[in-house]
Amino acid sequence: MKSEIAGMLIQRALEARKNSYAPYSGYLVGAALLAEDGTVYTGVNVENASYPAGICAERTALSKAVSEGRRHFKAIAVVGGRREESAGCLKEDCTPCGICRQSLAEFCTPDFPVITAKSITDYRIHTLGELLPFSFSLSCP
Ligand code: THU
Repeated sequence: MKSEIAGMLIQRALEARKNSYAPYSGYLVGAALLAEDGTVYTGVNVENASYPAGICAERTALSKAVSEGRRHFKAIAVVGGRREESAGCLKEDCTPCGICRQSLAEFCTPDFPVITAKSITDYRIHTLGELLPFSFSLSCP
């Protein structure tokens, strides 16, 4: 993973995070998913008064991409923090929740890079396999 690509994805995730709809938790998340053809699909968390109806930023991005016909991906960047945290300098990494890890595993291999960042220069690259070893899968009948 080249640092320019990581930086570009983090920038897109930070930009997207501004559109997060999180009136209940106050925790704003942005994601940027790079498809194999070079297209970047962004996503935010979209909460709901009926809490379980909310969706995470990563799955928003993934759903947008798959519904546009993309099924092969190179990397994802995720940024998150409370509303009052400034966009370019978040306090902690936001690592994807379990459901998002499983959703990514549907389309991405264990070596898929998951970038978590506090800023454009302060980031870590995990693999999906590290975040979700022994993921569940079913072979299509
Ligand atoms: N959230 C995400 O968008 N992605 C994650 O991987 C972790 C959690 C959202 C869900 C909820 O809207 C808020 O962060 C607080 O849990």
